[in-house]
Amino acid sequence: MRVLILGSGGREHALAWKLKASKMVKDIFVLPGNGGILKLAQGLDIDIADLDKIADFAQENRIDLTVVGPEVPLVGGIADIFLDRGLVIFGPSKSAARLEGSKAFAKRFMKDEGITTADFEVFDDYNQAKEYVSSSNFPIVIKADGLCSGKGVFVVNSREEAQRALGLLMRERIFGDAGETVVIEQYLKGEEASIIVVSDGDNFIGLASAQDHKQIYECDKGPNTGGMGAYSPAPLVEGELLDKILDRVIRPTISGMKRRGCSFKGALYAGVMIKDMEPYVLEYNVRFGDPETQAILPRLKSDLAYLLEAAAKKSLKNITLNWERRACVSVTLASGGYPAEYEQSKEIIGLDKAEGLQDVVVFHAGTKNIDNKYFTSGGRVLNVTALGDSIKEAKERAYYAVEMIKFDKMYYRRDISDKALKREV
Ligand code: AMP
Ligand code: GLY
Repeated sequence: MRVLILGSGGREHALAWKLKASKMVKDIFVLPGNGGILKLAQGLDIDIADLDKIADFAQENRIDLTVVGPEVPLVGGIADIFLDRGLVIFGPSKSAARLEGSKAFAKRFMKDEGITTADFEVFDDYNQAKEYVSSSNFPIVIKADGLCSGKGVFVVNSREEAQRALGLLMRERIFGDAGETVVIEQYLKGEEASIIVVSDGDNFIGLASAQDHKQIYECDKGPNTGGMGAYSPAPLVEGELLDKILDRVIRPTISGMKRRGCSFKGALYAGVMIKDMEPYVLEYNVRFGDPETQAILPRLKSDLAYLLEAAAKKSLKNITLNWERRACVSVTLASGGYPAEYEQSKEIIGLDKAEGLQDVVVFHAGTKNIDNKYFTSGGRVLNVTALGDSIKEAKERAYYAVEMIKFDKMYYRRDISDKALKREV
């Protein structure tokens, strides 16, 4: 099988690493990739925004399966282009990708399907939105409708803050058309969890539970990032609560999308807030989570290529997945300053030592390889990942490996998985 992977983060490195281990996979191509992925896959010189060119490549090079990592090509309709040409692709169609591409669509969908979510209103008129927040009880949450790389959500505590957020989104258009429409919703207090399933449009199969740490500082403080680390399993979403989320969130999402004529094929990620043991959906993503995937895939014993191909070809029904009992912890090493400004092109040393440790794998995110040396090329640089008999052991092993790696102004959180450890005892 010849596989093409789209994306350049730690998630895509984990996908490439797991696909490489499949007996079914012969060649892997990647666009654009990163320093780590390019050790496993052949890089392509095509603009990732040129969806037709990507399809041309897949057609001309007899690609058997294309796996899409990030949301942007999916929301842009890459799956539709591939399907029109009879090519096999893992990822939802443009109409199904609206679950992530439009928060207003997702909220209205949830309301129609009876899926619990924060109360909300949708506005496309700045003055009406401004008037609405003048009589709101704070805090409230203001969200740009469209894709903003996770930066379009404002939790605001006063009328002034709310007006400032509306001004930035709707008037200054700091995220362009993504802020043309906004969702204003009730603030929910609770603990966040993410559930990821793979669906073929009719059936779905849950992946091992995982949880990420979004904030930059320890104890989940400071601004949100792309993810400072993750662990699997996530004790918060095991057992009864997991069943509840599958029954009340995932099942109605898959069946509701099918009923609307936009069956969801691909990875569906529901970000939920758990409040009094009830799940409230905060958002959907139409792709694998990053960095959750880096903590999930090392625990997967089954063949990933088989799973993704079955989902793409609508034959998930009789598939079961086998998982390692062991736990996994993945720690993100970031460039100092991230998620604000940071410097790049710092040489990374000690990767070989860390990678040589047993039960440790280092997934690359923002790295590039020049003359057999690795340099930083992004905010999130590496995901140092380890398996262990318990989350505690996996955490110790991951941090032991972290100690081997160095680059100028390297930053990481020291408390990845502590949320889980508090629950385990
Ligand atoms: P979203 O992209 O909609 O998941 O929002 C990004 C982050 O903002 C979430 O991970 C939460 O931390 C926070 N957030 C979003 N919506 C709410 C809400 N209704 N109540 C509290 N926090 C929220
Ligand atoms: N870990 C959050 C995300 O993938 O959006």
